[in-house]
Parts: sequence; structure tokens; C-alpha cells
Amino acid sequence: MASPNEGGEREKLVSKLPAHLQQALKIRAAQLQTDMQDAVASGIRTWRNCTDMLPTVNTAGADSFGTYLPEGLYEAFKEDCRDRGVSYIQGLAQAVVLWLADNPADAEDSTRRFIVCNQKGGVGKTAVSAGLAQALAEDPAALGASAAAAIGGLRVLLVDYDPQGHLTHQLGLTAIPAGEESIVTHMLHREQTKQPLLDLTVAIGGDRFGGRLRILPAAFDAFLLDSALTVFRGPRHAALERALAPLEEHFDVVVVDSPPSLGLAMDAALYYARQRDDEKPGTSGLVIPVEAEDTSAQAYGMLIQQIEAQSRDFDIAIDQLGLVVNKFDSRRGYIATSSLEKWKSLGTPSVLAVIPDVKEQREAVRTQRPLLDYAPDCEQSHQMRKIARGVTPA
Ligand SMILES: Nc1ncnc2c1ncn2[C@@H]1O[C@H](COP(=O)(O)OP(=O)(O)O)[C@@H](O)[C@H]1O
Ligand SMILES: [Mg+2]
Repeated sequence: MASPNEGGEREKLVSKLPAHLQQALKIRAAQLQTDMQDAVASGIRTWRNCTDMLPTVNTAGADSFGTYLPEGLYEAFKEDCRDRGVSYIQGLAQAVVLWLADNPADAEDSTRRFIVCNQKGGVGKTAVSAGLAQALAEDPAALGASAAAAIGGLRVLLVDYDPQGHLTHQLGLTAIPAGEESIVTHMLHREQTKQPLLDLTVAIGGDRFGGRLRILPAAFDAFLLDSALTVFRGPRHAALERALAPLEEHFDVVVVDSPPSLGLAMDAALYYARQRDDEKPGTSGLVIPVEAEDTSAQAYGMLIQQIEAQSRDFDIAIDQLGLVVNKFDSRRGYIATSSLEKWKSLGTPSVLAVIPDVKEQREAVRTQRPLLDYAPDCEQSHQMRKIARGVTPA
């Protein structure tokens, strides 16, 4: 079968490709104004030239897929598949993944997702989520020329994903009462919701944020989220993504303040942080606050296991963008200084910042003001900007 396309005769390829790869291919090709068939042909050529061992793509449940290839390419590709001992479906999926990796989306195209997480309570998830979001949103001009190092000015959504609602309360707001529409109803029964989730977000005041920083308040119902997800009929790992996807076009960055748990709600947050097919590594991922003490190291070990299990189960990459050593006080002596050295010696993930244990954070909380608005020049605010620079490399 041949198609009379320009550039010579083409032959029809009929195979299967997972739905998410078909979707990513379609979107990326449209963004680059390339024909899908040229993208697939280019991916197959790269695949044929690639001598590295390629990771296996999960092709379970792949849907039918057809396109046209230049004459001879399909036969040559099938022969290579036989030589390499992979099915045509696997070979095609690897070729498409290669093409997507070689043709990444512009960073500006996709909304970056930063999930601030650690199942240990009190390590600074809420403080870091808030500070990072503020640093990403604040007007670079407000910092003066010397400090304005290419961060800020972004449209940022802070999501209070912890049912305890600390972030919400600290910014002077109230959590969404039980039974009302919230992130939880949008995760579990989006089709029955009446209000768009965007309407539930609230702007955070302060001239330096210029209306760019918004928060989605905590929901009381999130206390029941883990158990509701166990009986959820649908892809529960993608529930948070389903709820937040319609908001993404309105924001450059989404920062999620996670609950202190490792349950199903947290799995959905880890999944939301994954590297999407059209994203460069390190665009989105996890920011992990820790303390310079031994119990923090144990908690981190458990979190790593959770991340690895989730990556394996769903065949996804979840980037750890870095650690934030919080509440650091060298006067605590050897435990603090040696623990800090241990965190630094991990190398990967790197330590994005070391935030001192000083009064401004608690004062800002007490006065229900954003830290960067309350004390823009304190050391904690500077460290928050350092985290922001660390997670958004130029
Ligand atoms: N660097 C810091 N210096 C002083 N107090 C801090 C600092 N970071 C967090 N805190 C305070 O410590 C407590 C716990 O921090 P929080 O961010 O709520 O942790 P988590 O969200 O992980 O439970 C809060 O009262 C917070 O204001
Ligand atoms: Mg918290």
C-alpha cells in the first residue's frame, strides 16, 4: 500500500502504540509543525542507528496506530527488530520515545510541577512550598538589580494538598468545608462538579506578587482522600493530574504542599511530578525538605523506596530536583554539622539550599503574611530564592 505523498512513495505502517505516546506524538508534531509520519520516520531512523541498549517501554494495552513511511524503511525496521529480539510494537514505541526526547517541548510550553514532599511532619514542607512559590512569582524588579538573577515574574499556583490546611491558614484563609467542591471532588468526581477549580483559587496579596500568585485552599474532605482512592473506579494514580490539568494553561508553575504521609493521595502527587513524554528531565519533580538530624535520614530512605516503587509500577521517571536542609542551626553541634555534610555528600539529589532556623518564618506565620512580603531581605527569603533558581535552571 502506498500513499502519493511528496518526497516519494510511502508505505503504510500498521502497528500499535500506547495511547499516551500517540497523544504526545500528535501534540509535539503539531507544535513543531511537522507531519506525524515524518516524526515517526525520523524516530525509526534514530532507533536504527542507536547502538545503546534502550529501556523497555510499557506497551501493555497499546492501541492501533498507523502511519506512512518512506519506501523500504518499514522492511528495514522490521528486520532490525528481529535482529534485536524485540517486537515491532516495542521497537516502534522506543522509536517514538527517542523522537520525543530529541524534540523536547520548549520549557515555556509546559507548566512545571514542583511537589514539596516528605512523610515526616514538621520538616518544613509548608514553609518551603510557600517560600518557593513566592520566590517564583515575585517581581524581579522588587529585588533590585544585583539580586534579580533571572527568577520571578511567573504565574504560580500553590496547592494546599494537606488536609491539615496549615498553608491555607498561614496565609489568612480558611479551608474548604466538608462536602463542598474542592480539589477532592475534582479528583474523585470531576464530571459532577459545577465550578471550575480555577474559581476556587484565591489571589495572595502583596504588591511584589502582582496578582500572579494564587492558592487552591485545603479541603477538609482530603482527610478521607486515601480511603476514597482505594475504592475509586478509575486510574487513581492520575487523579490529581486529572483535577489540575485544566488549571495548567493559567499558570507557569504549580507547587504542591504535600501531607505528611505515604498513602494513595501521595502516590497521585508523585505521579503528577513525573517527567512527561514531551518534557526535558528536571523540568518538574520533587523538592524534599529535610532536617540535619538522623531521623530525617531514615524518613528520606522510606520516601526513596516509595518513589522507586511508583516509578517501577508505572514505568515513569520521577525527578528529585533537590533537598532543602531546613531549620539548620550549627549551634546544635556535631549532629547538625555532620548531618549537613551527609546530605551534601549524597551529590544526587543535590542540596538546593540550607535554611537557618531563625525567627522570621515563625513571625510571618503568626502575622499570616507571605514570608517574602513580610521580610523580603531576611536570610530565609534569600534561601527561598536560591531554591527557586535551583529548580528553574536557565
Ligand atoms: N527555617 C525555619 N526557621 C524557623 N522556623 C521554621 C523554619 N521552617 C519551618 N519553621 C516552622 O516549623 C514548623 C514546621 O514547619 P512546616 O513548614 O509546617 O513543616 P511541615 O509542613 O513539613 O509539617 C512551623 O511552625 C514553621 O513555621
Ligand atoms: Mg505542612
